[in-house]
Amino acid sequence: MLRPNLQEESKMYNFDKGIERRGTSCVKWDESFVRQDVLPMWVADMDFEIAPAITKRLVEAAGKGVFGYQFLSDAYYDTVIRFMKERHDYEVKREWISYLPDVVAGLHLAVCTFSEPGDEIILMPPVYGPFFRVVKENDRVIKECWLKNDNGCFTMDYECTKKNITNKTKAVMLCNPHNPAGRVWTENELEKLIEICAEYKLSIISDDIHCDIVSKKHKHTMVANICRKKGVKCIILTSPSKPYNLASIHVANAIIEDEKVHAKFEEMRVHNHISGPNAFAEAALIGAYDESREWLDEMNAYVEANHEYFAAYVKENIPTLKTFKPEGTYLIWVDFTGIEKVNGKPKEFLDEYCKILVNDGEFFGEAGKGFVRFNLACPRSYVEKALAILKEWFG
Ligand SMILES: Cc1ncc(COP(=O)(O)O)c(C=O)c1O
Repeated sequence: MLRPNLQEESKMYNFDKGIERRGTSCVKWDESFVRQDVLPMWVADMDFEIAPAITKRLVEAAGKGVFGYQFLSDAYYDTVIRFMKERHDYEVKREWISYLPDVVAGLHLAVCTFSEPGDEIILMPPVYGPFFRVVKENDRVIKECWLKNDNGCFTMDYECTKKNITNKTKAVMLCNPHNPAGRVWTENELEKLIEICAEYKLSIISDDIHCDIVSKKHKHTMVANICRKKGVKCIILTSPSKPYNLASIHVANAIIEDEKVHAKFEEMRVHNHISGPNAFAEAALIGAYDESREWLDEMNAYVEANHEYFAAYVKENIPTLKTFKPEGTYLIWVDFTGIEKVNGKPKEFLDEYCKILVNDGEFFGEAGKGFVRFNLACPRSYVEKALAILKEWFG
């Protein structure tokens, strides 16, 4: 199979090079259960060096030599506003933005903002595991409306959503783009969902952490633009952490247009002792959103080529496995349900025999049983190695 021409895709940055991560106390490579002989393709972070402009900003911030309590300057908010407008066609006002250390903290606060204990929240599994925990740990009730699987392409089940709504249902928790199914929900799909929310007076919690990792032919839709038109309240959660690989910097934002909802969210934030930023948050966000857009475009092209390669290779050489070229995220969802030899436990089989570490489909709920998720934010050579092994075992 032909290797896509990376020279053309990657003009300034060499994503083929990767970066040595073992021995850096990183979760992906160094956790105690990650054996030396496995190829880690699990947790959602990248095996690429970050954009140089971010490193430069961080080094400058470190050079200040004082790390007392901080707040975020106007430059931080201006950067978020500019980025949302220019990349996502979303006009954000300063007073709508709340800093958060991470997106999952924002999910907790959003659930508590929109509901009371005993209320119901709709999830669309298979979906990012902490969605379940966030609902349960706050004593709310999960209503599952599984996505429909049409030959690997997952779509929302509007009928199921409607049927599940009771007078206790308060919100839908959306993942856009969707982890793990790789869908970038279209405007039309989102509109249909928001119409249901408007009809039944449900709010939207939209986790948009992957919104900057989208393939060329797709466009991320900010659901807030639809919610506003239909009178649906929503909380959007974004972060430069996924697209720029900054998870340990702890910088994310909630964007909330409705004044009362925002006030309640802030009340929850204070109540949960989620305080101000660390000294590197602002530097990293500005270095990313303002100064590393070219890096982001090249990273997207590289990851898309990895996706293309993986999906085409599987189709041609390992037809027993089923997959779908993701529209967004750097994650690919692979269906092992037809493979007897894995005995219903593909993640364990891949770890033990293939020496590839992936995320177990059941991390994404019961709907993920028999699936696994690979992370393709890595040099092409890792993808080639993994595919050669998969071909050996399942081809
Ligand atoms: C959909 C989604 N939300 C949230 C997170 C985690 O975000 P954070 O580390 O900012 O809590 C991830 C990480 O993979 C994710 O995929």
